[in-house]
Amino acid sequence: KRPAGAPDKSLARNVTKVGVVGAGLMAGQLALLFVRRLEVPVVITDVDQERIDRGVGYIHGEIDKLAAKGRLSPDAVNRLKALVTGSPDKKAFADADFVIEAVFEEMSVKQQVFAELEEHVSPEAILATNTSSLSITEMGSKLKNPERVVGFHFFNPVAVLPLLEVVRGEQTDDAALATAFKIGKQLKKSCVLVKDAPAFVVNRLLTRFMGEVIAAIDEGTPFDVADNALEPLGLPMTPMVLLQLVGPAVAQHVNETMHAAYPDRFGLSGNMQRFVDARKTAVWITDESKESAERSASVEGGG
Ligand code: 3HC
Repeated sequence: KRPAGAPDKSLARNVTKVGVVGAGLMAGQLALLFVRRLEVPVVITDVDQERIDRGVGYIHGEIDKLAAKGRLSPDAVNRLKALVTGSPDKKAFADADFVIEAVFEEMSVKQQVFAELEEHVSPEAILATNTSSLSITEMGSKLKNPERVVGFHFFNPVAVLPLLEVVRGEQTDDAALATAFKIGKQLKKSCVLVKDAPAFVVNRLLTRFMGEVIAAIDEGTPFDVADNALEPLGLPMTPMVLLQLVGPAVAQHVNETMHAAYPDRFGLSGNMQRFVDARKTAVWITDESKESAERSASVEGGG
């Protein structure tokens, strides 16, 4: 069934090569998902070779983990690893027809990334952003071809969570949107079309949810009491464990976007700032989540 508001799928273009800008927490997970589900060349870039190598190393390591769980054959391991390359030069993106960015959550940085990409890719290549909260319309506003810009917002852990928010900017055309939905389906995600509004839908709700727990802590409720209060509802993890998984810095960016848009309804918290400075909340969950959080802190990737 076609998701509500999705354009006619006959408008969708084929994607034969994917580019990922950023090699941090979200970008690495995205590159892994793209290569696994689309089985096309995926090239990643970042600001220096060390980060690129770490990103490629992470993807190769995750492919090995999937093989160890019996989810990939030895042939598939070699094939997928060979499809993932890294390059510091955006010329490597020249023949990519879909590029997604997951760099630092700052509008000017993302606009700059798109402006550079536009010099290398074809005018039809889709420029997607995994931004958690920033305006898709504004991100495309300085481009020659803003009609190819689309929001493609994934959730952490990307391999596990099925939801994908697809965001249409004011100038996004039907072909770009139809292509985004086609890719979302190939990635086996449940796509929803959401309005280009601050933090879209999910992060708008999550910011309120986590923000109220932190507000209770700010006001003197003990951390564990506030964090565990909703345990009887059977949430998969407590709000502060979730905050740790997302990365306090990423959550803070979303919070700032909401505060700027609705200052009377979304406050800024002293404890939140302390979590950002310490790069953690008071809790770790598993080694896997600790690893994710450390990657998030060392190479912050927006999403
Ligand atoms: N990365 C990759 N895979 C992970 C993972 C991680 N960080 N954490 C868990 N997994 C995998 C496990 O390997 C396991 O896979 P398997 O079945 O193939 O072995 C599977 O997930 C289930 O893991 P577990 O059995 O260990 O643990 P749970 O059943 O508790 O599931 C969870 C873990 C899926 C993380 C679950 O706790 C959950 O859904 N939590 C809520 C996460 C959430 O709400 N995320 C949204 C954050 S908002 C966001 O990302 C937007 C951004 O813009 C801020």
